[in-house]
Amino acid sequence: MKIGIAGKGGSGKSTLAALIIDCLLKNGKTPILAVDADPNHSLGEYLGLDKPSTLMEKMEELLQLKDKLPPGMDKALLWEMGIAEILQENKGFDLLTMGRTEGAGCYCTANNLLRTFMERLEKNYPFVVMDNEAGMEHLSRRTSRELDYLAIVANPFPHSLKSAERIWEISRDMDLEIKERILIMVETIPGEIKDPIKPFREIACTIPFDQEVLSRSLQNLPLLGIDSSSPAPRAVEKLVLELIAKN
Ligand SMILES: Nc1ncnc2c1ncn2[C@@H]1O[C@H](COP(=O)(O)OP(=O)(O)OP(=O)(O)O)[C@@H](O)[C@H]1O
Ligand SMILES: [Mg+2]
Repeated sequence: MKIGIAGKGGSGKSTLAALIIDCLLKNGKTPILAVDADPNHSLGEYLGLDKPSTLMEKMEELLQLKDKLPPGMDKALLWEMGIAEILQENKGFDLLTMGRTEGAGCYCTANNLLRTFMERLEKNYPFVVMDNEAGMEHLSRRTSRELDYLAIVANPFPHSLKSAERIWEISRDMDLEIKERILIMVETIPGEIKDPIKPFREIACTIPFDQEVLSRSLQNLPLLGIDSSSPAPRAVEKLVLELIAKN
């Protein structure tokens, strides 16, 4: 099952990604590949990991090496080994942090190798959870594709709902091989959520305001291992088990 997460800035995407991973781990649904595709990455912190080396930093390093290799050396293999080094391996899950590009050079070779690498890597994991940057760039760049579920996160404010609607439209128009788009409403402040918005038939899940989630975030504490009876993890568990059963 591959799930990508989209939504407006601060809507609760990374929290949802971390809670999904926590739930999969607790239910023995492993191995999981966690992908932090937000250039301003934070998923590692939510999962309690050290500062990651990023894929883009590694690519810059490998691009520098490219012209200095002896003839006959298998470049693809070198790239694969180099990139595999930055996977943060943990019990039940591995985290890949994409990071951001620094230079202004041509990334065609790097992007091609990266795509091949990602396709091969994902095959090793029955569960892939991908956190994205705010907005729609990851859709127009086509990095969010071939998903079983695109979870569109919204808060009950007009601008957030409008943004969820736009994400729904662009993800439909771009033919990204997304099997299903689901609406997740998150109460980042206590409030009441009633109806789904226009393009969605239903709200797949409402994640209630959870003081424990907020406190952990304020103290920079990880979400992994959070008490499953807390309101947000409870809602996420119900959703995850439904999605697995449907997939
Ligand atoms: N259910 C919840 N209850 C209380 N607080 C929440 C809940 N979900 C998320 N939050 C809080 O909302 C804030 C933003 O969450 P998060 O970082 O997950 O958003 P994001 O969409 O990933 O943001 P960005 O676009 O900057 O990456 C955090 O402080 C988080 O703890
Ligand atoms: Mg985030």
